[in-house]
Amino acid sequence: MNKCLKSLAAMAFTAVAASAAPAESAVKLEPAADAPVISKEIYGQFAEHLGRCIYGGLWVGPESGIANTQGYRTDVLEALRELHIPVLRWPGGCFADEYHWMDGIGPREKRPMMVNSNWGGTVEDNSFGTNEFFNLCELLGCEPYLSGNVGSGTVEELAKWVEYITAENGPMADLRRSNGREKPWKLKYLGVGNESWGCGGNFTAEFYANVYRRYQTYCREFDGNKLYKIASGANAGDLHWTDVLMRDAMHHFAGLSLHYYSVDDWSSKGSATVFDTSDYYRTLGLCLEMNKLVTDHSAIMDRYDPERRVGLMVDEWGTWWEVEPGTNPGHLFQQNTMRDAMVAALTLNIFHRHAARVRMANIAQIANVLQAMVLTDGPEMVLTPTYYVFRMYVPHQDGRLVPLSVTTETQSVAGRPDVPQIDATCSVKDGVYTLSLTNTSLTDASSVSVDLAGIKAKVAGGEILTAKSVNDYNDFGQAEKVAPRKFDGAKISKGRLVVDMPAMSIVTLELK
Ligand code: AHR
Repeated sequence: MNKCLKSLAAMAFTAVAASAAPAESAVKLEPAADAPVISKEIYGQFAEHLGRCIYGGLWVGPESGIANTQGYRTDVLEALRELHIPVLRWPGGCFADEYHWMDGIGPREKRPMMVNSNWGGTVEDNSFGTNEFFNLCELLGCEPYLSGNVGSGTVEELAKWVEYITAENGPMADLRRSNGREKPWKLKYLGVGNESWGCGGNFTAEFYANVYRRYQTYCREFDGNKLYKIASGANAGDLHWTDVLMRDAMHHFAGLSLHYYSVDDWSSKGSATVFDTSDYYRTLGLCLEMNKLVTDHSAIMDRYDPERRVGLMVDEWGTWWEVEPGTNPGHLFQQNTMRDAMVAALTLNIFHRHAARVRMANIAQIANVLQAMVLTDGPEMVLTPTYYVFRMYVPHQDGRLVPLSVTTETQSVAGRPDVPQIDATCSVKDGVYTLSLTNTSLTDASSVSVDLAGIKAKVAGGEILTAKSVNDYNDFGQAEKVAPRKFDGAKISKGRLVVDMPAMSIVTLELK
């Protein structure tokens, strides 16, 4: 892996000079009144009936000995509230296309069982269903995002689900009332199928576009409820899928999804915690592929929709490692290190840059599955490094993007995008600027000089996330190894901000 100094502007790398000297980087803010707002929904989460995401992670039931609020873990609820989660996607994932919502309503003890054939053959007792999900969204203050069953469900079943949730009157509203919910809920985000090219039915793009048109027709808007319909989108670089969906069904959806996991080799995904320096940079190169994917899919969408009415919804993303040794391979339980924190920060920065088209993103998943926010073990809970990135980035939610360029060294990774040593993102909301900087180098500190473009501001606060080793993670029953602390390595003088970034660190500064 070679290093060289490069300038990063609008994600186009241009070599400007070579340097043997250690790490000095420059950031130039380039505020623009017409820059897009970073939809807070980019900070969305995803909860699937998979392993211990729902059961044990979010929901323990009201009878549990684990402290709970109406059946939801109180520790997890409190931790998640700090993330200001805007939207939560449920019940899958692959599970969604085998989920029959009527099995998950009514008295819990009478609900039928099913086999969760996608995820380890675990028997699902349906004790967490529609009412439990919508109540959770109310407790978290977030929008629900339902993923509807197209693969194995009927048009009628999906239509009635929307009616059950949103109608004031009629048989479905009566059914809801008989289950204890008088007023309809609001439902904005409705996904019509999940990974319809794969576990959601193995459709071709052409066939799915027609199926999508049919299913969405009967998802009605009851009593003033407005649906934002989302079609199942492409697998990573499958541009044909996006092209066909935009061509054949665009007038029937508001959003089109995209799924991408930072995985090199699905047959050997690597350990979450045991990895070396080259694995680390390879992972960052892989996560930066997201920029190309979003750029390429957006270019196709631009052809059909230059006004950018349709949102690109990256409703599954993140790292995917081998499961922790000794755990069920179908439950996708993985640890989360400082490397995952870097992936989170770099990926969120990409979504910010593409905020004009990317309107939602949902990291997979919220608890105990893949790149989770929280991990639980019986009554214990740990907050992951990724959780802390999401918490540090909260001020960016609904901020206006401040475009910027970066000049920094880069690390080359075979066959993947170069990894910039310093990456940066900035937004402004209510006159307060939030600047987040990432130093990806495992060895080199960097003094980052930020041209504030005349913005008169003082450093009003800062936090840093770093660790002794990139392999560090937070574990049950142990003091946290990766947690943010106050940062005082930033100073403004003569219109320039200088930030002393230690190696392997993520910093967020409040400027006002
Ligand atoms: O997030 C885990 C799985 O990954 C989801 O169920 C599926 O949509 C994707 O393949």
